[in-house]
Amino acid sequence: MNKDRVLTGIRPTGFLHLGNYFGATRNFLAMQAAYECFVFVADWHSLTTHPDTSELRNSVRRVVAENIACGLNPDQVTLYVQSDVPEIAELYLYLNMMAYKGELEKTTTFKDKVRQHPDNVNAGLLTYPVLQAADILIHRAEKVPVGKDQEQHLEMARNFAQRFNYRYGQGETILPEPQAFNYSGGELVKILSLDGNGKMSKSENAMNTIYLADDDDLLRKKIMKAKTDQGPAEPNSPKPDYIENLFTLMRLVSSPDTVARFEADYAASSAGQVVIRYGDMKKQLAEDMVRFLQPIREKTNAMLADEQYLATVMRQGAEKARASASATLQAVRKAIGVKYY
Ligand code: TRP
Repeated sequence: MNKDRVLTGIRPTGFLHLGNYFGATRNFLAMQAAYECFVFVADWHSLTTHPDTSELRNSVRRVVAENIACGLNPDQVTLYVQSDVPEIAELYLYLNMMAYKGELEKTTTFKDKVRQHPDNVNAGLLTYPVLQAADILIHRAEKVPVGKDQEQHLEMARNFAQRFNYRYGQGETILPEPQAFNYSGGELVKILSLDGNGKMSKSENAMNTIYLADDDDLLRKKIMKAKTDQGPAEPNSPKPDYIENLFTLMRLVSSPDTVARFEADYAASSAGQVVIRYGDMKKQLAEDMVRFLQPIREKTNAMLADEQYLATVMRQGAEKARASASATLQAVRKAIGVKYY
């Protein structure tokens, strides 16, 4: 039986953090066996906002290494770098003729980026969703696991596919329309920044974000200075966000017994009698986090130190990706009629 194709892209613009890991990466690991998975590093996309490429090579290698260290199996999934697959660029060119200036200018992410970088509003930024559509459609992927912020891009990918099929398909579906997809069935873990202000972030608020690359001492330091307060005023009080976040993290990396103990202490605490000791809780969380992240970090570092290994992985991924991509591109060229002999 043919498995459905799932595809996701990761921009190499920052370090992987716990929010990425528990929100996206872990979810993807669970899909490896059930679907035909494509995972790629979106290096072309990063050029739309990060023209300085001095760190690009390091970042791309890191994304590949971190994903493998987390459990992505490069023999099972197709793991590749976008720029290794020139077929994507050609499909992007054709799709650009189906994308209207007005709809591109209305895209939320475009408007945000114009606000953030008013001095670099380049055409690549405007057509970012077209390139993303090409990423997906080049493999005829049916499913794309996306967060809220990417839903609009996916909808645009569907529109471009639909227009392409209508214009050139002669009743056939050359490019299937991709659907948003959430494997875990609804609930994705959301991890807040350690100061309680918003989500953990790839590139901002570094001291309140836990990165997979953080060493043991830095992990301890960050967790020990996470925001807490004097404790609940009454027994069984609801938890403020920043406290709930510490419990969320604990549920992910500590033993159920440990979580239960601190839950009970919290429930029993009141202004007159504070049973829960946040200092102890954070110490425990820090040690459990260190234990959880150490092996991932060590595997990542070993891969980063091994030129040969990552090169082999990327080459192998590129070959698999190009085989799939060129099959689609042939059908696309034929449908359009840019094939003369
Ligand atoms: N735009 C996505 C992001 O910012 C990255 C991305 C590029 C992507 N191409 C993709 C995601 C294709 C899913 C499918 O995270």
